[in-house]
Amino acid sequence: MDELELRPTILLVDDEAMVLNALQRLLLHNQEWEVLVAGSGAEALEIMARQPVALVMTDQRMPEMTGLELLRKIKEAYPDTVRMVLTGYAEMDVVVNAINQGEVYRFLTKPWKYKELLETVQAGLQHYREQTVRYSEISKQLVRANLETVMALAEAIELKDHYTKGHCIRVRDYSLRIALALKLSEDFRRDLVYASLLHDCGKIGVSEAVLNIKGPLTEAQYREVQRHSILGFEMTNKIDYLRSASVIIRQHHERWDGTGYPDGIKADEISLGARIVAVADTFDAMTSSRPYRRARDFKSAVQELLDNRGTQFDAEIVDLFVSLLDLPADLSEAVANPRRLLLVGAQAEQLSELQNSLPAASYEVFGVATLAEARRHLAEVEMVICTQHLPDGDGIDFLTAINHLQPQIIRIMLIARQEMATLAATVDQAGLYAFMTYPLQPAETLALVENAFEWQRMACVLKFV
Ligand SMILES: [Fe+2]
Repeated sequence: MDELELRPTILLVDDEAMVLNALQRLLLHNQEWEVLVAGSGAEALEIMARQPVALVMTDQRMPEMTGLELLRKIKEAYPDTVRMVLTGYAEMDVVVNAINQGEVYRFLTKPWKYKELLETVQAGLQHYREQTVRYSEISKQLVRANLETVMALAEAIELKDHYTKGHCIRVRDYSLRIALALKLSEDFRRDLVYASLLHDCGKIGVSEAVLNIKGPLTEAQYREVQRHSILGFEMTNKIDYLRSASVIIRQHHERWDGTGYPDGIKADEISLGARIVAVADTFDAMTSSRPYRRARDFKSAVQELLDNRGTQFDAEIVDLFVSLLDLPADLSEAVANPRRLLLVGAQAEQLSELQNSLPAASYEVFGVATLAEARRHLAEVEMVICTQHLPDGDGIDFLTAINHLQPQIIRIMLIARQEMATLAATVDQAGLYAFMTYPLQPAETLALVENAFEWQRMACVLKFV
């Protein structure tokens, strides 16, 4: 949002200095924007490479590069920039054609009228603001949808492999701790989250009977289990946003010394993400119960990692991971426990339904009847669940205000199921996590609240929002 709050920049391009000066003088009267000028298309592109430009207005008839040629390049490199062209009547055909093909937002004819120029520029900048806000909303929603899909898939895998309940989440958290300590980029962390949650997704294609065998496996059974790396890779490689993660999934059983599977690659040939997930996955497998053995204690699991540094694992990752285990878990314990939820404007029975749906040790729910009371409690809560009609105002306005002022508070609206369609626009407006519908179903409600906190934690770690 920072960019939007700055004054937007307008770039004027014309090979005739007099025209350029005249335009600049007219537009400089207004304090809402910055104005830059360029004498040619090439100069304009140089400026745009250095700084963001909201709107370009170019003359059409210029030597070397025409206005439309310039705008075509801008459309490719900076699709958000609003493109406008100044033209004489002689070139009208070309320009109209360009507008029809979406190359140009508007055109102005020479000689221009001041009022028309100003209105066109203002409309262009308004268009820029709307599409930038819309784009960031869409990308946020897309990332959230992607992560939710991945989490749902991870849960489906755990259903199949009963004994690994919670395994994917723990592998993700261990992996993220390593990535954060290594100060790896947000993109890397995002791929790592997807990969660690889905590292065993290929098990969907492995026989359930083999997966749940107690005791040692035969050679053939072992080969069957090993197939999950490649199956997982093939499943995820076709999905655009999982392509980088798919490499980690393929390689998570490779070993530093080259004796792993499926490709037998070694050391740096194995992607960093896969070297991280290998340590996290093995450590969690050792410290949680499996069908064929009980969990080991942390100390002996740590020793096992240390014994295998440089053979099975990347020694540097093991050392880092072991050093992190001594520190408080910055991911899972960063949130207050119990978490506090505020229910605004609900009936007494809805309050008790909500309280009964959530384990009291983890969630503290309190209800207030009015927005005025709710405002007094905002500093103390992590989630607000609000109805629409309150004695002192509108719930949607209240949640919208929280979205602007305290976006870290999770916002949920409590509605009747049949109201869902009419209130759909509220999701964007108030940045809602979800609707909660009454009468509340305990299992559904608990899942919704747990997922919302899980989502918020990920969004915070990955800086999605
Ligand atoms: Fe695996």
